[in-house]
Amino acid sequence: AANANGRSQCVGPEYRPEGQKPTATVSTEVHFDNVTILPQTPQLIALLTMIRDRDTGRADFIFYSNRIIRLLVEEGLNHLPVRSHAISTPLGTSYDGVRFEGKICGVSIMRAGESMEQGLRDCCRSVRIGKILIQRDEETSKPKLFYDKLPEDIAERWVLLLDPMLATGGSALMAVDVLKSRGVPEDHILFLNLIASPEGLENFSQKFPKLRVVTAFIDQGLNDKKYIVPGLGDFGDRFYTM
Ligand code: URA
Repeated sequence: AANANGRSQCVGPEYRPEGQKPTATVSTEVHFDNVTILPQTPQLIALLTMIRDRDTGRADFIFYSNRIIRLLVEEGLNHLPVRSHAISTPLGTSYDGVRFEGKICGVSIMRAGESMEQGLRDCCRSVRIGKILIQRDEETSKPKLFYDKLPEDIAERWVLLLDPMLATGGSALMAVDVLKSRGVPEDHILFLNLIASPEGLENFSQKFPKLRVVTAFIDQGLNDKKYIVPGLGDFGDRFYTM
């Protein structure tokens, strides 16, 4: 079922009858193989409700965004390869586990993407983090690379690219071009994102089909100012200044 805002669905544990669960707008589905949407759990929907609410102040916006970012990082890490790894427990019994063996780094798209750095550090201690600044060129009105600082061995790392809002995808696409020009294979890049537009995902999937996108929610679309709708406004302003 769909309402004016998108797909409406009962939210709650599967074992509970439909009549006992509230309905809410959940993420649009997409058919792109390279896109993973976080499970639309009661907690995720409640967290998104908090940060979308225009009456939510800065401190709460940061707190609830951080919880979603943590979920994105944990899910993103699940897409990296692991190897079998057997250990012994203090009881002298063996346990067949796994461990991650590669090297990773984060790359934030400034400014809003920097809000996701702490969530990555909370999961990956002493992780290297690079930055890319892309802004619209006043003369051509196209995105332009203004600054980048990336680990020199980035080509040997899995890269977690960070940007909370994927609108048209202009900056994120350019950021991926920069990473690829430094030797990072497309299929070693994971784009972590809170809210995406269908247009942005389409552009991404067309241009970089081997890159994996992990997002919390796909919204309805863009307005004429290229803001995501229903969205949450300007993420950077709400996280850093409002
Ligand atoms: N960036 C934002 O912060 N918000 C949008 O809606 C789109 C891009």
